[in-house]
Amino acid sequence: MAVDATRDSLQQITDSLRSYLETLKESGVTGLPGRVVAEIPAPVRALPEQAPAVAPAVPPQPVMKKEEAVAVPIQPQDMFVASQLENVTTLEALRAGIGDCRRCKLSQGRTNIVFGVGNPQAEVMFVGEGPGHDEDLKGEPFVGRAGQLLNDIITKGMKMTREEIYIANVVKCRPPENRNPEPDEVATCQPFLLKQIDIIKPRIIVAWGTFAAQTLLQVKTPISRLRGVWHSYHGVKLMPTFHPAYLLRNPNDKRLVWLDIQAVLREMGRL
Ligand code: URA
Repeated sequence: MAVDATRDSLQQITDSLRSYLETLKESGVTGLPGRVVAEIPAPVRALPEQAPAVAPAVPPQPVMKKEEAVAVPIQPQDMFVASQLENVTTLEALRAGIGDCRRCKLSQGRTNIVFGVGNPQAEVMFVGEGPGHDEDLKGEPFVGRAGQLLNDIITKGMKMTREEIYIANVVKCRPPENRNPEPDEVATCQPFLLKQIDIIKPRIIVAWGTFAAQTLLQVKTPISRLRGVWHSYHGVKLMPTFHPAYLLRNPNDKRLVWLDIQAVLREMGRL
């Protein structure tokens, strides 16, 4: 009996491992890194039953030189991405599966993982670029100066509360010196954002700023041209607009963000 149970669980582990390695191979990985687990790109999965209206976000995969490829044990958290994400149905389970993430190099400098906050059934989801200094310390998105402005937009402009919206970022750990997240970091974190969207099922996503909009939509078009019109992200209506940090430096453009937010409110039947 006990021998059968052990054989079954060994078989399950072998199956998961095989499936994980096949997924890596499909995404172009030619070897596993020696020390920096971070460089293993995680597969980007489309949301189920939603034909992407734009090409799915698959940033260029880092190609590892043969001599750098040294076998390392598969990390338990990578097994989670490869084989178990499909079975995750709650934000709590997703957060638990992310664990004390070491999948990419951003983990080296972060204080807290900034998973996301808000209504798990939100009609509208905000996506920013990545945590800054204040967010890293608090473990919550948009709590610094830009976050204060975002709160004003939510409460004064939208006449809603922060708790009614779900707020997350493209990457969940603070990039050093607030630099833009790099392609391998985005690729590693993206399955988690996609899963959050899949669980929350927002009707509308607002992408705040150049980086979030260009990354989600996989385009290089300037935010000034992306904003103000509806796009589609895995079948979800997406409105790009200027980042609140940009608005702090360019307050004259607040009127354009207000136009974008009005479009969102109209779509929600709130205007
Ligand atoms: N800027 C972002 O894009 N996200 C945050 O969480 C904070 C600042």
